[in-house]
Amino acid sequence: MTVKRIGILTSGGDCAGLNAVIRAVYAHASGHFGWDVIGIHNGTAGLLARPVDASALDDKVLGSDMLRQGGTILGTTNKGNPFAFPQENGGLADRSAEVIEGVRQLGLDALIGIGGDGSIAILRRLAIQGGINLVAIPKTIDNDLGATEMSIGFETAVQTATSALDHLQPTAASHSRVMVLEVMGRDAGHIALSAGIAGGADVILIPEIPYKFATVEAKLAALRKSGRNFALVVVAEAVKTESGEAITAVHGGGAKATHTYGGIGHYIGEELAIRCGAETRVTVLGHVQRGGTPEPKDRVLGSAFGVHAVDLIAAGRFDRMVAWNARQVIDVPIQTAIQGAATVDPHGALVKTARGLGISFGD
Ligand code: F6P
Repeated sequence: MTVKRIGILTSGGDCAGLNAVIRAVYAHASGHFGWDVIGIHNGTAGLLARPVDASALDDKVLGSDMLRQGGTILGTTNKGNPFAFPQENGGLADRSAEVIEGVRQLGLDALIGIGGDGSIAILRRLAIQGGINLVAIPKTIDNDLGATEMSIGFETAVQTATSALDHLQPTAASHSRVMVLEVMGRDAGHIALSAGIAGGADVILIPEIPYKFATVEAKLAALRKSGRNFALVVVAEAVKTESGEAITAVHGGGAKATHTYGGIGHYIGEELAIRCGAETRVTVLGHVQRGGTPEPKDRVLGSAFGVHAVDLIAAGRFDRMVAWNARQVIDVPIQTAIQGAATVDPHGALVKTARGLGISFGD
């Protein structure tokens, strides 16, 4: 198969490092192979638009400013699954054929899709249905994609959460307070665990390890007894109340309302204040974990993934996702990566590390 023209899109929530991928794909595809690279705007929404919302990338993306920029120059969406697309009347419609037609109209020989597990699963379904030559690149601050040790965006999110703890610790010590930091991560506690270790947390609550307030109270009491006047508690957004309810936030109203996790930090903070008499304050970190300047690791990973994805297309190897494994860029069948979320292993190395440091998981 002769490749002349490829497309690239970013899908799902944005994160730091996406522009490094786009730059690397263009540099290698255009610079080395001489292909045209078409940037599709706003994920699959660009393929649904008529005319299709896309434009050819040019040498402007080679500038090193791209490496430093958070977000995605292509735009993205984490709504509007084309197989169940929300309608004005509140119903859902299958618009997958229109998306596939959009790819056909662009005359693409292959498509690079950068996404998390949900977006990559949708792109794969589209690829199978429409005979699209797809290569996927993993990105998500949640780091919950299988078959890769690292996804783009995770390192920067951990850095931001760690830096938040660096900011909270002195004020916690100055005011003799218990500071609760709520971080993102969807159903996985990876950000909370890594940032908690790096930022010197006393308690880390993650959805993978059920907690009891009695245990957290005992930890805080032990700290007080040892002469410590403050404590740092990190809680992942998907942690439930002690009785097992998820706490979610609603954005927008009516048929357009979307639900995300959010708010568990306030519940934990209030409960600790009531139960231990501690003066608590709560910080919900939110989307600052997604934006910002990409950490070097996300720039390096993004560059390596972009180059490898182009090489896969050149070799005619499709339905593959690039991945990071044991210091190498490898590639795996997409199906392997999306068949189950890679959440924190409660018996894994980092949980053992945290326990070894005396950090409590409240269990
Ligand atoms: O998947 C990335 C993520 O940032 C999650 O950690 C979080 O739960 C969710 O997206 C937030 O989504 P939104 O950008 O729609 O608020």
